[in-house]
Amino acid sequence: MDSHQSSVILLLSLCSLLLISPSHAQTCTSQTFTNNALYTKCLDLPHLSSYLHWTLNAANSSLSIAFMAQPAGTNGWVAWAINPTATGMLGAQALIAFKSSAAMTVKTYNITSFASIAESKISFEVWDLSAEESGGTITLFAKLKLPGNSDIVNQVWQVGPSVTNGVPDIHAMSAANKASLSTLNLTAGQTSSTSGGLGSRTKNKNIHGILNVVSWGILFPVGAIIARYLRTFESADPAWFYLHAFCQVSAYAIGVAGWATGLRLGGQSQGIIYTDHRNIGIALFCFATVQIFALFLRPKKDHKYRFYWNIYHHGIGYTIIILGVVNLFKGYDILQPAKKWKSAYVIVLIVLGAISLLLEAITWFVVLRRKSSKSTKPHDGYNNGEDRQ
Ligand SMILES: *[C@@H]1O[C@H](CO)[C@@H](O)[C@H](O)[C@H]1NC(C)=O
Ligand SMILES: *[C@@H]1O[C@H](CO)[C@@H](O)[C@H](O)[C@H]1NC(C)=O
Ligand SMILES: *[C@@H]1O[C@H](CO)[C@@H](O)[C@H](O)[C@H]1NC(C)=O
Repeated sequence: MDSHQSSVILLLSLCSLLLISPSHAQTCTSQTFTNNALYTKCLDLPHLSSYLHWTLNAANSSLSIAFMAQPAGTNGWVAWAINPTATGMLGAQALIAFKSSAAMTVKTYNITSFASIAESKISFEVWDLSAEESGGTITLFAKLKLPGNSDIVNQVWQVGPSVTNGVPDIHAMSAANKASLSTLNLTAGQTSSTSGGLGSRTKNKNIHGILNVVSWGILFPVGAIIARYLRTFESADPAWFYLHAFCQVSAYAIGVAGWATGLRLGGQSQGIIYTDHRNIGIALFCFATVQIFALFLRPKKDHKYRFYWNIYHHGIGYTIIILGVVNLFKGYDILQPAKKWKSAYVIVLIVLGAISLLLEAITWFVVLRRKSSKSTKPHDGYNNGEDRQ
């Protein structure tokens, strides 16, 4: 029991440590407009150095926005869109600002194809469209009637390099260009300047990333590899069990700490909701907690329920590993760390996969050899080959 208690204490102290880090401020709270427009909320969008300011009039579902971004070229364009029917570019009802014969203009586009776009009406009412450029940054102003009367909208934003004959040219396809979409909670958002710096938020994101990669991405799979392969070797019994339990309990403690930082980041992420990443994260936490209980509820090896316990323990275990890896990649897409971090993790996965394959082959070899030596010498009491839990 002692080792369980100490791991719970470790877990609690890690969590409390991470929950008392300072709050943050956003760049948008210090931005002002030359036309002196005022908005009640704002948000630093997570990609393409873009900012959204808005005022929601809930009484008649009208929204007034200012979107700021730097176009990808001197005569480029910036775009902000609501997608009422999907997430992402297809179906987006876009407002695009660019320079047209020396003056800034804003046009509307019903985006129906990745290949080309044409100016068109959009599915909701928009008015007071205008744009201005200063110091290489374009600010797009618009008022619109929210589709679906919802406070939650799917937004997409983008920057492009050039405009040819009044038609915005296709944008680059970097990771940031592809990641520039999110669910926006219009009743959340940053209202006034708060204490703390952007630095602490970046630090929290890094801590969140590292804890989760170490836990769900490395320790859980390593723990599973130990359980699956080491126990084939008689000499590794019961060491494999303690190694496995140690690995998974540490993975759980670190994973819960990483999970707590994620909830915190989610709370700080004013207005932006990463639904899939969040839901998978919550599911992972639940599964992992159930799995820790499996440790306490384990029937004896020869108990008649042990067979069912094994199915349940292995089923949830593999589910955790798959969901964990999927969610890590979703996390990489959200946080967009330098490419080398994602590559490093892919290499770790390949190495773990190769080790598993090798051990799988060795295990089969050992088990089959044991079976055949057993069938020729049935009375030597050597039954380990069949007792692979
Ligand atoms: C909603 O109300 C605001 C403030 O009263 C007004 O400026 C705006 O035009 C209204 N919008 C619509 C779509 O009626
Ligand atoms: C936008 O394009 C789609 C597909 O062609 C069409 O179904 C939809 O009615 C269009 N929306 C508007 C507002 O024109
Ligand atoms: C939107 O933000 C408000 C205010 O922070 C919050 O009360 C509400 O639960 C959020 N809605 C969703 C769907 O997250």
